[in-house]
Amino acid sequence: MTHDAKNMTVVVTGASGRTGGRVAQAAEAAGLTVRAASRAQGFDYANPSTWADVLRGADAAYVVYPSDIGAPGAAEAVGALAREAVGLGVRRLVLLSSRGQDRARAAEEALHASGADWTVVRASWFAQNFSEGPLVEELRLSGALVFPAGEVREPFVDVRDIGEVVVAALTAGDRYVGQTITVSGPRLLTFGEAVAEIGEAAGRPLTYRAVSPRQYGDNLAGFGVPPEEVEALVEAFTQLLDGRNAHLSDGVQQVLGREPRDFRQFAREAAAAGTWKGV
Ligand SMILES: NC(=O)c1ccc[n+]([C@@H]2O[C@H](COP(=O)([O-])OP(=O)(O)OC[C@H]3O[C@@H](n4cnc5c(N)ncnc54)[C@H](OP(=O)(O)O)[C@@H]3O)[C@@H](O)[C@H]2O)c1
Repeated sequence: MTHDAKNMTVVVTGASGRTGGRVAQAAEAAGLTVRAASRAQGFDYANPSTWADVLRGADAAYVVYPSDIGAPGAAEAVGALAREAVGLGVRRLVLLSSRGQDRARAAEEALHASGADWTVVRASWFAQNFSEGPLVEELRLSGALVFPAGEVREPFVDVRDIGEVVVAALTAGDRYVGQTITVSGPRLLTFGEAVAEIGEAAGRPLTYRAVSPRQYGDNLAGFGVPPEEVEALVEAFTQLLDGRNAHLSDGVQQVLGREPRDFRQFAREAAAAGTWKGV
């Protein structure tokens, strides 16, 4: 099976989010027709009766599960969505998964079992976790990040690279069907070093304070995060940040034939856009 990109319609779930937004941009730049699918377009993971209208007539889909891919219920939802897509003739599916997280494997296996022409993109921590999402307000308002990452090193990946890898995989015919592509950034940094680079780029001193996953969970609970979500996050962070992920992965180089974007470039660009401007 080969797809002519110019005639390809791709459903992009999570299109208003970090990776989906970049997948949509990269897909449009490559000449694909993008069909955005988040709740604003009537597509809701919590309501399977909304799925068919979004999928029908498309050639491919980028599947992003909105909460943690290792969370309870994720594998069932991903499997059900993939089966529905295949049943409607949308066989080419690319799933975003998480690097070094045992609980993410169930969703990947559900995709494999769906009969789809699948590709899994396993990603390291996003650089954009610091600029889009819950961490950014904390950094911007208090000048400090409190996080359960100790001194562990992580190769933060730029979500623009994820978008480009997904689109390259979608438009490469069968080349990446049945494959798992693991992507990371090009450099290992502790969370403290990442925050310091952001501070340098933003022109203000920003600090990082390590706490234990349990303390972090207690803080989240204090902000009203439901107990089962807190437990899932504490478990995920404990595993993801225990040192097993302190290595680089070469998926960006393999698929795009170039180095991944560096964290310093991300920090400079986001700082120039005013992301961490103090109040
Ligand atoms: N953060 C990381 O470092 C990292 C690393 C590896 C993997 N991941 C995985 O990345 C995934 C999240 O991707 P992301 O960061 O690109 O997403 P995101 O920025 O958190 O955005 C979530 C997207 O999902 C949509 N959404 C939320 N609830 C929905 C629902 N009930 N039905 C349909 N759409 C819904 C949102 O749009 P609306 O609110 O408009 O519906 C939004 O477009 C998770 O599965 C996570 O495990 C994250």
